[in-house]
Amino acid sequence: MTSRVNKAVIPAAGLGTRFLPATKAMPKEMLPVVDKPAIQYVVEEAVSAGMTDILMITGRNKRSLEDHFDRVPFIEQTLEAKGDHEKLAAVRRPSELGDIHYLRQGDPKGLGHAVLRAKLHVGNEPFAVLLGDDLIDERDVLLKTMIEVQEKTGGSVIALIEVDPDQISAYGCADISPIDGENYVQVSELVEKPAVDEAPSNLAVIGRYVLHPRVFDVLETTGPGRGGEIQLTDALQTLASADGEGSGVYGVVFRGRRYDTGDKLSYIKAVVTLASERDDLGPDLQAWLKSFTHSLDG
Ligand code: G1P
Repeated sequence: MTSRVNKAVIPAAGLGTRFLPATKAMPKEMLPVVDKPAIQYVVEEAVSAGMTDILMITGRNKRSLEDHFDRVPFIEQTLEAKGDHEKLAAVRRPSELGDIHYLRQGDPKGLGHAVLRAKLHVGNEPFAVLLGDDLIDERDVLLKTMIEVQEKTGGSVIALIEVDPDQISAYGCADISPIDGENYVQVSELVEKPAVDEAPSNLAVIGRYVLHPRVFDVLETTGPGRGGEIQLTDALQTLASADGEGSGVYGVVFRGRRYDTGDKLSYIKAVVTLASERDDLGPDLQAWLKSFTHSLDG
């Protein structure tokens, strides 16, 4: 097994029902966050953490994902003729990010099943999984740290954030113990979307994973869990309590900026936050936001 993590898997087969009717004929991954589709931020994050081989697990109604990461000669020629180099670079960028592969999930049997579909492509190497609903601010480091922890421990690594206890039922939840002198924790138990009074902690799993390929063997024998779906969380719980090569689950507690685009309110907050920090839009937007909130107070 080579230890270098250079493959990323991005599950993108979800139906996006929370955003209907916007997602009736368009994948939710293509919803713009300011002026880029959400999925582009995720691919850029994977590439800047050193991954050049990206596999998207897609489904029906997802063709525009492939189009977005492809060249588009007609638009490029038009922009070139106009001498609009800025827009030309923006249009080309998605097609220059890396080597992107697509595989359909087939049956919608859950996140664990989507990840298992990557088995042949990934082979016997550690790999990253990035979920498109979570955006990590490019100024904050997460994936690189997780890769280092994977290389050091030889196990699987999850990303955790502290949430208000009443929010935990929306996430996978981890029971952990600190490891002396290390910037990561040992994960002893994982539960997918526990009831608030049954959660072992307020540490929520967010959508970044660096996994040992042994997870594929475990997923093959993991039955349906919460919601009747094959849960990645359940497979990781098995690895957390297993012995031998590829066992053990470790957590990196992330305290940086994360934007959730998975539901309408969080999505709107993500767009406003990111736009208000941009040099081109921020000053005007912030001025407007101030007068707008002032008018709300009135
Ligand atoms: C998935 C995982 C869950 C995790 C979440 C992070 O759930 O199953 O453990 O906390 O992603 O975004 P989903 O939000 O896809 O239902």
